[in-house]
Amino acid sequence: MSTQNVVPLHPAKADESDHLAHVYAQFPLEVVDAMGVYLHTPDGRKVLDLYGGHAVAAVGYGHPRWVEALTRQAQALAFQSNAVPLDVRVRAATKLAKFCGLGLNTVFFVNSGAEANENALKLALKITEAREVVAIEGSFHGRTAAAGAVTWGAMKKWYGFPQAPFDVQFLPRGNIPAIKETITDKTAAVIVEPIQGVAGACDLPKAFLEAIRQRCSETGTLLIFDEVQCGMGRTGHPFAANMYGVTPDIITTAKALGAGFPVSAVLMADHVASYLKMDDLGTTFGGGPMACAMVEVVLDIIEDEGLLSNVLARSAEIREKCIAGPVTAIQGAGMLLGLRTTRPAKEIQAELLKQDILTGTSGDPNVVRILAPYVLKSEHVEALRAALIDIGK
Ligand SMILES: Cc1ncc(COP(=O)(O)O)c(C=O)c1O
Repeated sequence: MSTQNVVPLHPAKADESDHLAHVYAQFPLEVVDAMGVYLHTPDGRKVLDLYGGHAVAAVGYGHPRWVEALTRQAQALAFQSNAVPLDVRVRAATKLAKFCGLGLNTVFFVNSGAEANENALKLALKITEAREVVAIEGSFHGRTAAAGAVTWGAMKKWYGFPQAPFDVQFLPRGNIPAIKETITDKTAAVIVEPIQGVAGACDLPKAFLEAIRQRCSETGTLLIFDEVQCGMGRTGHPFAANMYGVTPDIITTAKALGAGFPVSAVLMADHVASYLKMDDLGTTFGGGPMACAMVEVVLDIIEDEGLLSNVLARSAEIREKCIAGPVTAIQGAGMLLGLRTTRPAKEIQAELLKQDILTGTSGDPNVVRILAPYVLKSEHVEALRAALIDIGK
């Protein structure tokens, strides 16, 4: 064998004895268990989790109804694929479509955000028979071939595939005049994160989304809202689409959808679903009974506990009280907020963690990200305010 193409291995690092791929910077935090909005460390610290497991832990940790639904479904039937009709799958899809309320009445369950986007893009390309996809600068859509191809900056940083599976153009954020020439009848889909999470909770202007919607309708292009991070009640509305009053043709969602159980979904309008034929989409784990039971219970908890109003109320409190210490402005919506900081966000994140508050950073070096559980209380907002004041400018 020629040695020419053999890639040298990285020298073993001391911490590689744990057999894990070391591809994630790690928070300096060990977690043994969690309850409500608090993470517990082995040395007895209680850390307020405003990062929410990267926007996943929507109903907090150890919610009794969530745990009960998981246990009940595991005992009753842990798994059958989509080839076996299941009541729980129909109930979850029906509840999700009703929760959304925008006429996107057909649901296909898959497993991760990237996979949902992969399916949405594939559908759009097949239906329109066009070859181009338009995405927005700053967006993040996942790590797989199609999702990565529409993720801003991925090609330079980590993409790895020899080429994108379709032609991609990026539209500058908020640039309404550029819409007409960028979205044409050659554009299969425009994929948009209405509030760009990884970029730092950047909420796109309503007029920009409206103009994209209008142009997509003119050119026969399908509009996909990637609500993997900003959907499922995180804005205080069912989806960001509801908040903006802009209805896409497809919504993808994940993260909070199972609130800790891996599940994602593609929601389709009738004019999209009507194209579906046998075998067009597929998955082994997607739509399994455990995932569907968790979608159902998460939607029930959000509704029964009035969590959408709680998200709106706590978000308003954060905006009112937490422009304090190093924070000069707040962007985003609901429990997807970006706190703009005078000093690097990483420093502020580290200082907050010293005060037992976990937050996230983002693609913007001066934005600390809040992705808190929807069950947050006023006292937790007060704790954040006090910590920010303590940190000072
Ligand atoms: C908006 C958005 N889309 C897609 C993804 C990818 O989701 P997953 O990591 O579940 O594949 C993410 C993950 O952070 C995201 O924030």
